[in-house]
Amino acid sequence: MQLAGRVSLVTGAGVRLGRALALSLAERGSDVAVHYHRSEGPAREVVEQIRALGRRAVAVPLDLAQDQGYGELVSRVVDSLGSLDVLINSASVFERGTIQTESTVSWDRHIAINVRAPFLLSQAMVSRLQQGQRGHIINIADWRAERPGTQYIAYTVSKAGLVALTKSLALALAPQVQVNVIAPGAILAPPGDPGGYFARLPERIPLRKVGSPQELVQAVVYLLESDFVTGEVLHVTGGEHL
Ligand SMILES: NC(=O)c1ccc[n+]([C@@H]2O[C@H](COP(=O)([O-])OP(=O)(O)OC[C@H]3O[C@@H](n4cnc5c(N)ncnc54)[C@H](OP(=O)(O)O)[C@@H]3O)[C@@H](O)[C@H]2O)c1
Repeated sequence: MQLAGRVSLVTGAGVRLGRALALSLAERGSDVAVHYHRSEGPAREVVEQIRALGRRAVAVPLDLAQDQGYGELVSRVVDSLGSLDVLINSASVFERGTIQTESTVSWDRHIAINVRAPFLLSQAMVSRLQQGQRGHIINIADWRAERPGTQYIAYTVSKAGLVALTKSLALALAPQVQVNVIAPGAILAPPGDPGGYFARLPERIPLRKVGSPQELVQAVVYLLESDFVTGEVLHVTGGEHL
């Protein structure tokens, strides 16, 4: 798919990697719906930056922990920008939780935001596709989805679910919609980065560096431009997942 003239929706696009993805899609000619929850001000800045690039943009709020509002959100995108061709599910919650500390509240938040919301948004997007219209869904998971870990149990399971969801939707929606998932490694330090965790990471990453938002952007663009890749897990980790 060529991005020029398409319409993309990026979740969590007010800040961090979602913001980088929204701007990069606009730089490649896509109109963009900028989803946010708490980051209204930053999301409005992204909208202004996209408009300055000559593309159309709209900011669309929704708390993805909720089980309602997905059809309305997609309708708002289609009504404002004319269609919806590309959905990037980037918004996420990432909270530590071990066998001793994990709570039902944390479980429900991770599953709702990281897996259920991408499904509900996919469902809403597909219901608005026109006959003959092609689409792409790209989910942003984590290499932890495919490797066991003890410190982020609900998060890890939610991202494993997102990988499974991706493969199921790739089958269910072919040939009209391609569905892929990116499994990033260390790209952006968590807010606050306690103890300089990120600075010590390169020594245990095979390519001896952390990534950058640009590497995630390149992976997304590759998947969007391909007409023959679906159900794929693309690791962008510097080899850390190995
Ligand atoms: N950063 C990395 O190095 C890294 C590594 C591996 C995987 N990933 C994955 O890459 C994606 C982007 O990561 P990131 O680090 O940029 O973002 P992040 O800090 O994991 O996620 C923050 C984003 O999620 C949104 N969000 C959180 N709770 C929400 C809710 N209840 N409803 C709606 N939106 C909600 C936030 O929106 P508001 O601010 O508007 O509330 C914000 O845009 C995530 O899926 C993450 O798991 C990132």
